[in-house]
Amino acid sequence: MRAAAATRLRTDPATRAAEKLGAARRVTVITGAGVSAASGIPTFRGAGGLWKNHRPESLATAAAFARDPVTVWEWYAWRRQRIAEATPNAAHAVLARWSQRFEAFTLVTQNVDGLHEQAGTKNVVRFHGSIWRLRCTRRCGAPEWEDRNAAQRTLPRCETCGAVARPGVVWFGEEIPSEAVQAAFDALDCDVCLVAGTSSVVTPAAGLVGEARRRGAYAIEINPEATPVTGGVDLAIAGRAEEVLVEIEKRLSVKG
Ligand code: OAD
Repeated sequence: MRAAAATRLRTDPATRAAEKLGAARRVTVITGAGVSAASGIPTFRGAGGLWKNHRPESLATAAAFARDPVTVWEWYAWRRQRIAEATPNAAHAVLARWSQRFEAFTLVTQNVDGLHEQAGTKNVVRFHGSIWRLRCTRRCGAPEWEDRNAAQRTLPRCETCGAVARPGVVWFGEEIPSEAVQAAFDALDCDVCLVAGTSSVVTPAAGLVGEARRRGAYAIEINPEATPVTGGVDLAIAGRAEEVLVEIEKRLSVKG
């Protein structure tokens, strides 16, 4: 009901968001692939989301990797290449500045591209790991390692035992690191919770904004398309993160 009312506001949505953020001390932001779209990294769902007709759910699983590690690695190598060529966009830059602006700020991201950190964002909680980390599939005891070789074509190997290595990301059916989940839920006690660039279909990230709102936060969504959470936020702004966030920041700056 409140979201429906939000679309009838007399003030424009960016101004409304700036008013709420201007009065906020604790801000939590939840992001997904859409915030990196303007950096040239394809989203998982929607236009351009499919890779060779595979859905992400059919590639990003341990079972898919066990069945066909070459295809899964090809997909990750393709994404790694796109990410290696990418730089943070205006959405990442605004959020990085906001991470310094508020008394408490947490950014929970499902993205594995590292662009929030590259933009300088403080207090990033990664739900799905990093595409630049690798892990031994035999679990030989070697700690996860960094591998920035985006051009890698063959199956990478564990440097300690020689077993096939897998991407250090969280796949469907796998547990998100408990520290990340804890940090995210702790951050839901906030004044404003803003969710941007996610289709909000993958749990538990999809449930965070609703939980923040239940705890009293003002909930804002930025997405050019409607998602399952659109009807349950206070203010749904239909637009691109890299444009809407800049507009909100302009209005915040005017207010000082
Ligand atoms: P999706 O690809 O599911 O959703 C991207 C969302 O971004 C869509 O709702 C788009 O409408 C929106 N979008 C596109 N361009 C945008 C823009 N410029 N500004 C704002 N929004 C824009 O990506 P996620 O929700 O991040 O997990 O996907 C969640 C998880 O599913 C991913 O972390 C990944 C995937 O499979 C794993 O790999 C485990």
